Amino acid sequence: MNSLKDLIVRTLTLWAALSTAAPLDNRATSRVIHTFPNPTWLENFAATKGGNFLTGAMGTSGTEAPLYVVDPLAATTNTTATLLYAFPGANSVLGISELEPNVFVIATSTASLTNGPTVGTSALWCLTLNSASDKGTPIVRKIADLKSAQLINGVTVLNKNTVLESDSLAGAIVSVDVKTGSSKTVHTDSSLAPNLTAVTPYGVNGIKYSAPYLYYTNTQLGVFRVKVDPKTGAAVGSYTKLASLDSPDDMAVARDGVVYVARPITGEVARVGSDGKVTVVAGTAGNEIWRGVTSVTLGRTFSDRNVLYGCTFGGFTADGQGFASGGRVVAVGIA
Ligand SMILES: *[C@@H]1O[C@H](CO)[C@@H](O)[C@H](O)[C@H]1NC(C)=O
Ligand SMILES: *[C@@H]1O[C@H](CO)[C@@H](O)[C@H](O)[C@H]1NC(C)=O
Repeated sequence: MNSLKDLIVRTLTLWAALSTAAPLDNRATSRVIHTFPNPTWLENFAATKGGNFLTGAMGTSGTEAPLYVVDPLAATTNTTATLLYAFPGANSVLGISELEPNVFVIATSTASLTNGPTVGTSALWCLTLNSASDKGTPIVRKIADLKSAQLINGVTVLNKNTVLESDSLAGAIVSVDVKTGSSKTVHTDSSLAPNLTAVTPYGVNGIKYSAPYLYYTNTQLGVFRVKVDPKTGAAVGSYTKLASLDSPDDMAVARDGVVYVARPITGEVARVGSDGKVTVVAGTAGNEIWRGVTSVTLGRTFSDRNVLYGCTFGGFTADGQGFASGGRVVAVGIA
């Protein structure tokens, strides 16, 4: 039987092969906001009220999980990203979602880029940004250790008391009460299931609540949504596939229901229209800055309301043995 390590090594090799495939689409407006040292695998991403970005690294060699704040304007003078907080007892930051303005719920875990996640190490935290400055010392409390989860990956806030989390290996979505830390499984539909013999053995991955729907990706299958109860998160409609896509990761949902999907393998961002039509809005073609894009989010201030931002792990080298660059924060105009 293949070990998870074998699967991940195969994944890396496949990703490397695919990431050297012919370029797709060259968007002149794409730009790099910040490049982290190589290697840095950025995995998730959220905008603050003031228009900065929170992003965290996965599979670090340290014993703490780093969360950074990146200022899209200061980066033009090549300032470095600011380490905002290092979560103890884990080495990876996964899902990030905003509970109330400048208060974020963040999942951490212990994971290795070559050996995969350590099952049962997921935890959930609440981080309140410093009221004087996004870069100031935040207030942090642990909501819960989620020992029964296998790998908490995506996180999305349902209401001020409840977050939903995707467990990519269990093929489930779990709700967590942010005050008590108690959790329960609310979705186990077959559209969430992992395929443990597939090259990338993850099922449900990115999740985003945009009332009344919960949108999610399945790494094997594509992009889905289901109408949910706003209090409990339970399904009140059918699980519906919006588009078939290989290896989608995290996504952003615009107010009009358009879904922007990060696709790390092809290094592009797909736009899924409300009619299900799939187009590419940011891609490789002669600019490889979107290689390894894992998560995307829309600009939050008036001046960047038509900008889509992404974070990446830098893509793989041609031989699949390393990373083409450190993880990046990148941007593209979508007006
Ligand atoms: C930006 O800063 C980094 C880190 O200090 C440095 O390695 C790089 O050369 C700088 N880039 C430019 C264009 O100044
Ligand atoms: C799981 O992945 C394997 C390998 O790609 C494939 O042969 C199999 O059909 C998949 N199973 C399902 C249920 O999709």
